[in-house]
Amino acid sequence: MDDQYTTINCLSQHQGKEVTLAGWLYKGRSSGKVQFLVLRDGTGLCQCVVEKGKVPGELFEQLKHLGQESSLTVTGTVRADERSLGGYELAVTDVQIISPADGYPITPKSHGVDFLLKHRHLHLRSQHQWCIGKIRHTVIDAIRRFLNDNGFVLIDTPILTATVGEEQQSLFEVDYFGSPLYLTQTGQLHLESAVMSFGKVYCFGPTFRAEKSKTRRHLTEFWMVEPEVAFIDLDGLLELAENFVSFIIAQVLQNNKNELETLDADITSLEKTKAPFYRLTYTETVDILRSRRTRDFLAGQLKELQNQKQQLETKISELEKQPASQIKQWQKDKIAAELIELRTVLTETDTKIENNPKHAELAGEFRWGKDLGGSDETIISQMHDKPIFVTHYPKEAKAFYMKADRDNEKVVLNFDLLAPAGFGEIIGGSMREDDHDLLVARINEHDLDIENYKWYLDLRKYGSVPHGGFGLGVERTVAWLTAQKHIRQCIPFPRMMDKVYI
Ligand code: 4AD
Ligand code: MG
Repeated sequence: MDDQYTTINCLSQHQGKEVTLAGWLYKGRSSGKVQFLVLRDGTGLCQCVVEKGKVPGELFEQLKHLGQESSLTVTGTVRADERSLGGYELAVTDVQIISPADGYPITPKSHGVDFLLKHRHLHLRSQHQWCIGKIRHTVIDAIRRFLNDNGFVLIDTPILTATVGEEQQSLFEVDYFGSPLYLTQTGQLHLESAVMSFGKVYCFGPTFRAEKSKTRRHLTEFWMVEPEVAFIDLDGLLELAENFVSFIIAQVLQNNKNELETLDADITSLEKTKAPFYRLTYTETVDILRSRRTRDFLAGQLKELQNQKQQLETKISELEKQPASQIKQWQKDKIAAELIELRTVLTETDTKIENNPKHAELAGEFRWGKDLGGSDETIISQMHDKPIFVTHYPKEAKAFYMKADRDNEKVVLNFDLLAPAGFGEIIGGSMREDDHDLLVARINEHDLDIENYKWYLDLRKYGSVPHGGFGLGVERTVAWLTAQKHIRQCIPFPRMMDKVYI
């Protein structure tokens, strides 16, 4: 920003002095002789107090009708005010309107999700999306910082690939000069080549999955960071993952407390999220899912949901009874907004009540050998207050490259890291099959074209070593830290199966 302007996050250094802020009108309120303009400038919000007589009369009138999101510069004296946003406000002496805005579509009233997604290009300016954007920035910065400071070399892996990285069903095919190529599902295979050169590497980029699932956890384009290490074992990978996640959280707590508070995130629980995390094998997890403990846990949850439903219904009917004639317009707007909010929560609660017995049944009848489903992950995740590693999945449920446990060939040396409180998987990782012939057999079992994997097999011919790594999804991590129900809030421009809005 130009030096002639002060930013809102630096106001404490200018107490008692005159400064000029440049930004947009977040909201305005007038009480006859005084106007309160809340300005946002990208670094924060500041209340600017305009008193009649302190600015030219014509300007005072103009400001009364200035629309939300008009751009302007405001000059005034900085004064501390405990009640004010951020602790400081501006006693205004001058305002320059740069570009007036009229009829900004996103008003402070509540809007439906679909409306807001259609207006994401503007919704990015809201406090909600701004807070998430700031936290996402910290998460990405922490990811790079941790890996760079721990001896990892950044390797940029290709986005257009011939190889299936994870699963055939979710490939995006691209016509590459007449032949098919795919948008990358993971940089892992190429990283495995680079790790034999550098020892510790990572890639960090956009990742594509044609997931035919419209869940709150799936995007078709998301960002994944993937560290890969040579001469490591599964325990070493778990330790790396828990230190990595703990560092990311510590950075967010250090830099974004205010944003976390605004989003109503569970700061206390994040503060407790330190290594060591819980460790369960897949087999232990299956036992838990089928146990009486889980059945009781879900029954308790159902009761709680039913209570919640009742309370919501009471509150809604009370609000609906408000006599429309006796209240002011702003009160009507507030009630209408509250009703939208409450009805949304009620619908979500109804869905949870409907799903509870289905999920209980799925968990109770879980068969060893299947991959954990979304609802199974949610249950395990809800039953824990810190992240949980689930290790040693059945070979048949997992990707071709995962290394079989030499002590029990039915399982692979892999792990998923589940975030607590129902947020589910944020990391997937494994040791890689490093034996040439076993890997050939796995490629054939998965019906993959061996021709495309010749180069990958070479890595097992020339100095193969035990190696492994993992992938952490940025949006899933941000959704957990910011307590967002849906991952689409955690990327500026989400791409989902059914819709790409902007
Ligand atoms: O478990 P996944 O599929 O693992 C891999 O891709 C490995 N090749 C990584 C590795 O070992 N280098 O994906 C890793 C993470 C998931 O835990 C999740 O956080 C995220 O990527 N992820 C998604 N995020 C949003 N939308 C989707 N459709 C996602 N699919 C995976
Ligand atoms: Mg996974």
